[in-house]
Amino acid sequence: MRMKKKAKIKRIGVLTSGGDAPGMNAAIRSVVRTAIYHKMEAFGIFRGYEGLINEELKILDHRSVSNIISRGGTILKTDRSDRFKTVEGRRRAYEVIKKNRIDGLVLIGGDGTYRGGRLFNKEWGVPCIGVPGSIDNDIAGTDYTIGSDTAVNTALEAIDKIRDTATSMERIFIVEVMGRSSGYIAINAALSGGAEDVLVPERKYSIQQLCQDVVEGNLRGKMSWIIIVAEGVARAGDIAKIITETTTLETRVVTLGHIQRGGSPTAKDRTLATRLGAEAVNLLRKGVSSKAVGVTGSKINVVGLASAVTKKSKDVDSLYKLIKILT
Ligand code: F6P
Repeated sequence: MRMKKKAKIKRIGVLTSGGDAPGMNAAIRSVVRTAIYHKMEAFGIFRGYEGLINEELKILDHRSVSNIISRGGTILKTDRSDRFKTVEGRRRAYEVIKKNRIDGLVLIGGDGTYRGGRLFNKEWGVPCIGVPGSIDNDIAGTDYTIGSDTAVNTALEAIDKIRDTATSMERIFIVEVMGRSSGYIAINAALSGGAEDVLVPERKYSIQQLCQDVVEGNLRGKMSWIIIVAEGVARAGDIAKIITETTTLETRVVTLGHIQRGGSPTAKDRTLATRLGAEAVNLLRKGVSSKAVGVTGSKINVVGLASAVTKKSKDVDSLYKLIKILT
């Protein structure tokens, strides 16, 4: 039987799901302490939806989230659960919710997490509030997702270092950054790192044009290049191979990989996580369900979980244009 509407939320659960992102811990801390402030109990659910199905949970007290605001990763661990994608998996998860008398869930994660939460709410009536945690910044209804600022800064730090050797040895570097279907890290790291070009999933690119730009630049006396590639577009090694074959210029490849997912969150990510974690609890207290929190400008924004996973509007073209103007 579905969950009945309750007058008062007394116990909430919080989980992190999907790819971890710096700032998730700050969000967990905020959820737990806001809940305690309002005299509620907060269950930490370990390993995302998988842990919910397996009843891996415990009550978190005020002290259990001490000193985590500055730590990357997630103390609750995370997972991508295939079982939660099934009706039976979600039924078992609901049994755990019922058994532990949990009145609502805060779900910290990306689009997969939101889709799961929406379905779970629809089927079993469990109030679910999404908090956007993803380095990809690909959730609609919020300008930023928790972790995206840290990830861009991590990539930027690496690009600055690569530039030192690129200019010294007059080479072309192809730097692969994360983002299977999102070019957020790539385009922002490229713009802030002064990269010469960037390939993102949101824009068609021409390898011939890229090679031609390199040759023309070289004729003008330009000796070093940094080209950023989002992992969803192509492998950096393949791009490098084509450039070398076409232009005969020397290339090197750097794949930044999962270092972009770790590290201490920036102030911006910590602030965002703290505000959104608290807001998620407040929404549950007000009886709101199946919504996602975010920020637009300086204001908190609340949208339906369903609309948060629709295509996010992005300003890729104008940023790309600017990169090319400044090259
Ligand atoms: O969390 C998002 C993300 O880091 C993407 O940018 C990347 O494509 C993917 O996760 C990598 O996933 P995995 O953890 O399975 O390597």
